[in-house]
Amino acid sequence: MKKIAVLISGQGSNLQAIMDACEKGFIPAKIVCVVSNKMDAFGLERAKSVVIPTNVFLRRDFMNNQEMDRAIGDYLESFNVDLIVLAGYMKILTPEFTQRFQGKILNIHPSLLPKYAGLNTYQRALETGDTEHGTTIHFVNEEVDGGAIVLQAKVPIFPNDNVEDIELRTREQEYRIYPMVIKWFIEDRLSLKAGIAYLDGKPLPEQGYACE
Ligand code: GRF
Repeated sequence: MKKIAVLISGQGSNLQAIMDACEKGFIPAKIVCVVSNKMDAFGLERAKSVVIPTNVFLRRDFMNNQEMDRAIGDYLESFNVDLIVLAGYMKILTPEFTQRFQGKILNIHPSLLPKYAGLNTYQRALETGDTEHGTTIHFVNEEVDGGAIVLQAKVPIFPNDNVEDIELRTREQEYRIYPMVIKWFIEDRLSLKAGIAYLDGKPLPEQGYACE
């Protein structure tokens, strides 16, 4: 059975959706470890409750980011992981790390990339007056929120929405599409070659597979 590692920093609600999908057999793989860069990330409790090994790496325990990421990489390699899933991991990974695991790291970002890379995406969409928002799953390279896009899901923004409304609507989509994309990867339908994402042998367009 293929092995997945999940990196988190917070609530871990995406982690929960992925754990549930593995448990049900929708994703034919096992989550072998959950890594956090925050001691109090609630996602750690979610993992512990179903006896998934967890490990916390704190930046203050390392000389620099490279050393921290090297230690995380060594830990993941000790499990021989097939896929590294970033699920709300709020620390930028070093190029050494992203190159070491090239084509094996997926991330979910709450915007329709390339729009709104970085933080506060809901706020920014609201302030711009956008009528739609969404979420993006992409392969991770050394550019922040910049790797090949696999799948996006769009949600409407209604006139009286606040940040929480948009976030709730977007998260619902995240819990639906992240397990699906992970399943594609685990079943060898999805891969990255020379910076381009392929699904079933066909290159995906720049915006990924469109999913309304
Ligand atoms: C998600 O909305 C994801 O898009 C972003 O961080 C959030 C993580 O939430 N990268 P959770 O920890 O999975 O609840």
